[in-house]
Amino acid sequence: MKVVSTEKSQVLASRIAGALGTGIVDVKFSQFPDGELCLAAVAPDDEMVIVGSTPDNDSLVQLLLLIDACEGSKNHLVLPYMGYARQDKKFRDGEPISARAIARLFTHHVADCITVNIHEPDVLKYFGVPTKNISVGKDVGRYIESMDLSDPLILAPDDGALAFAGDVASVGGWDYDYLDKTRLSGSEVKIAPKKLSSASRSVVIVDDIISTGGTIATAAGMLYLQGAKDVYAACVHGVLIGGAYSHLKVSGIREIICSDTIERGCSRISAASCIAAALKH
Ligand code: R5P
Repeated sequence: MKVVSTEKSQVLASRIAGALGTGIVDVKFSQFPDGELCLAAVAPDDEMVIVGSTPDNDSLVQLLLLIDACEGSKNHLVLPYMGYARQDKKFRDGEPISARAIARLFTHHVADCITVNIHEPDVLKYFGVPTKNISVGKDVGRYIESMDLSDPLILAPDDGALAFAGDVASVGGWDYDYLDKTRLSGSEVKIAPKKLSSASRSVVIVDDIISTGGTIATAAGMLYLQGAKDVYAACVHGVLIGGAYSHLKVSGIREIICSDTIERGCSRISAASCIAAALKH
């Protein structure tokens, strides 16, 4: 078994190979003069682990080219971050279910697929192959443990992320809660923990994705007004578009942490050992 990856998942793929005790396949992506993506011949093994997050369209095309190049092998697809997964239903008439459209691309030459904290697990039904969605919640918790915060409060930005916050908090037996939004007037909204107080506490807001950072920046502002000592942010997928990292820093977030499902300078947590364990079972 060998591991191969798209350009933007090289580091994670190499860590997965290390955790599996296997090698990686040399791969070279380039572009044709008209801008189309091109992949130099790869030498696949009989069994391959193909790793590729799809935070952008080029990564998606690279992944499809890789899968096609490995057509004769038994291929295990690892999709650490699946782009388009947030359009998981028709929010308005006439819209596509983008997650379904993308998932259906992975039905050929793939034996099974592993995703990591996919935004909506229900979309797994659209893959044409057996799937497994794993969580790095405990790895996020272990990173928070290493920060040595005194009695941190783990907060989900909404009740939908409460189970993830619980998973993170279980590592240290910390308190956890979710942020509840109350509309005070046409223009005023109050965001505060549903049950607990953040006053004088170190708070870590945890979410599956940080995209623009807007959700967490707004919440952090409110938490500081309510007396929080420090606010940190941790997520699985650091999409971080449009200057989100700077926006969060300016909003007073002490540290922004994400995993390497999308490789970033702030990828302090690796999904590699969880992915390798899932591949072994
Ligand atoms: C949405 O449901 C997700 O779980 C995240 O809360 C969302 O993607 C965060 O977006 P942003 O960083 O743009 O506020």
